Amino acid sequence: MTDTTPTSALPNANFTRRVFSGIQPSGNLTLGNYLGALKRFAQKQDEGIETIYCLVDMHAITVWQDPEKLRRATREAAAAFIASGVDPSKSILFNQSQVGAHAELGWLLNCVARLGWMNRMTQFKDKAGKNAEKASLGLYAYPALMAADILLYHTTEVPVGDDQKQHVELTRDIAAKFNHDYGVEFFPAPEPVIEGAATRVMSLRDGSKKMSKSDPSDASRINLTDDADTIAKKIRKATTDAEPLPETIDGLKDRAEAKNLVNIYAALSDRTAADVVAEYAGQGFGTFKPALADLAVAQLAPISGEMNRLMQDPAEIDRILGKGAAQADAIARPILEKTYEIMGMVRSR
Ligand code: TYM
Repeated sequence: MTDTTPTSALPNANFTRRVFSGIQPSGNLTLGNYLGALKRFAQKQDEGIETIYCLVDMHAITVWQDPEKLRRATREAAAAFIASGVDPSKSILFNQSQVGAHAELGWLLNCVARLGWMNRMTQFKDKAGKNAEKASLGLYAYPALMAADILLYHTTEVPVGDDQKQHVELTRDIAAKFNHDYGVEFFPAPEPVIEGAATRVMSLRDGSKKMSKSDPSDASRINLTDDADTIAKKIRKATTDAEPLPETIDGLKDRAEAKNLVNIYAALSDRTAADVVAEYAGQGFGTFKPALADLAVAQLAPISGEMNRLMQDPAEIDRILGKGAAQADAIARPILEKTYEIMGMVRSR
């Protein structure tokens, strides 16, 4: 056993390509979740690869959740996936707690991950803040559960926003250490897939902060449940500078708020930021913001409408999640059993 990070990762050529990703069902999903994750999840379905998407309710409880609100938020997040184009007949869609193998592999990987690695996780530092002594043990161990989520399916690709890159890299380290310590070639080294124009959508009030469902200011974000008027109003009121848009994206370098709005426009319209800047060069926000508001309303209002419709029938959502969980379990169980066997556990029932 070593305490150092092994450098060898298994070539993923040995594994069938498989996509896995997850979202926490804790409160309103935002435009950041949509552009950084949901929209891209739907696109991945058409690449001829198996796609598995998970509502990570066991991650959500690393900070206190009111049980009724968590149940509702889980169904609402499932509705958001489907309304964003994730089709339960093409992708496996389920909530994490219905597949017990996640928690089981999570424990096994707690025993592989090193404290030194966990101490480097910036998201723990951000979330625990100054009061880390009062944070739950689960919040600290969370990245090892995330590694389990991914490795349980021998995942090769993990589409995420920029903020999750460090956790996927940790997953690679955990996989490599497991393979090294047990002398096996069992877990692949999953690749973080961070692509598109909006891998880090920033707050509408402060271009140095990530757009987040936990920001106390509702004006800082667009929620997927916002109606057309609210979306348009939040964009019109977004903080910007007084300069017109530059000729090229280099001119956005020190203009975080302007850059954010351009990136959002680009991601919503499936264009590059360079393309958008070229179109609006020399124009002020008096022109750009209404154009962005129209685009955002056209793209997002149908999603919130469809979410509302789906939420009228929670039993149907639960049925979809249950079916997805059974499909996920069928892939996960044999991989978990093999992990137990590799680690030396007697399995006799
Ligand atoms: P979570 O729930 O915070 O976010 C879900 C996804 O949305 C992306 N995202 C953003 N992308 C761009 N701009 C933003 N402002 C923004 N905010 C959020 C996140 O990068 C993420 O892709 N630990 C994960 C959930 C998780 C997971 C996994 C992900 C658990 N197990 C296994 C992948 C694979 C999380 O808290 O994401």
